Amino acid sequence: MLSYRHAFHAGNFADVLKHLIQLQLLEHLRKKDKGFCCVDTHAGAGGYLLGSDFALKNREFDNGIAKLWHRNDLPACVAAYVALVKHFNGSGRLERYPGSPLIARQLLRKQDRLVLYELHSTEIKLLNAAVSKDKRITVIHADGLTGAPDLLPPFERRGLVLIDPSYEIKTDYRQVTETLIKMTKRFATGTYALWYPVIDRSRNHELERALQNSGIKNIQLFELGLRADSHEDGMTASGMIVINPPWTLMAQMRQTLPWLASILANGTGNFRLETLAGE
Ligand SMILES: C[S@@+](CC[C@H](N)C(=O)[O-])C[C@H]1O[C@@H](n2cnc3c(N)ncnc32)[C@H](O)[C@@H]1O
Repeated sequence: MLSYRHAFHAGNFADVLKHLIQLQLLEHLRKKDKGFCCVDTHAGAGGYLLGSDFALKNREFDNGIAKLWHRNDLPACVAAYVALVKHFNGSGRLERYPGSPLIARQLLRKQDRLVLYELHSTEIKLLNAAVSKDKRITVIHADGLTGAPDLLPPFERRGLVLIDPSYEIKTDYRQVTETLIKMTKRFATGTYALWYPVIDRSRNHELERALQNSGIKNIQLFELGLRADSHEDGMTASGMIVINPPWTLMAQMRQTLPWLASILANGTGNFRLETLAGE
């Protein structure tokens, strides 16, 4: 049974990196008029109230979006991300945080589509309510890792697949690699973004090695950490592994990650930028 609820973590430092990159990838797809399809294999509830008991339990957003909210020295792609979250809030106060489905919805044009998978019986109801009445969006109450490959390639032949598991089950690490191999065989030109946490670094090494040995080409990795690796300290860092990134992404992240690490982490921040496989 799944117990993870993203409401505890909404707007934390991991969401900042994940959603900032998601936004850049969708902005790139919007550069051409032709429609695209975005598939989110682990959608969550859609959006989150930062005043809820869940979010207030550990106030994780304090080390994430809240640290960026009032700054006027944001690098360009951080500014675009904060502007999107501000748009979602309407008022000038930080009260809500959009999850990946509502971020994607904001970027959809009339010719674009969004397909959302969610397995949790409570989250699926919240998700349906959050995106209801939008004909461009399909919500599927099923396993995104086994279901989403069947949607590929999308008829548009342009698209992004976001894979954002909660890694509650240890086999998730192996399954994401297998799923990415299957997906890239079906839709080689698609862009794929895989989120990962750093809790036990040996698992990350295994994941990276598996992807490097998978035959998948053109893989970049972007990681942001609040603290050095530790076995006792929960999630110290997280990252996004992007397959077929826009050619501009590495340069953007080279400017952005050092800045985010210094602003979000009070002197203990760290980052990684790597090409795991060339084109
Ligand atoms: C990290 S949260 C998603 C957060 C969301 N992507 C965002 O950025 O706002 C992971 C979600 O995946 C769901 N989940 C876990 N395993 C799944 C699976 N195999 N297929 C679909 N959803 C799954 C969980 O219930 C949880 O809501």
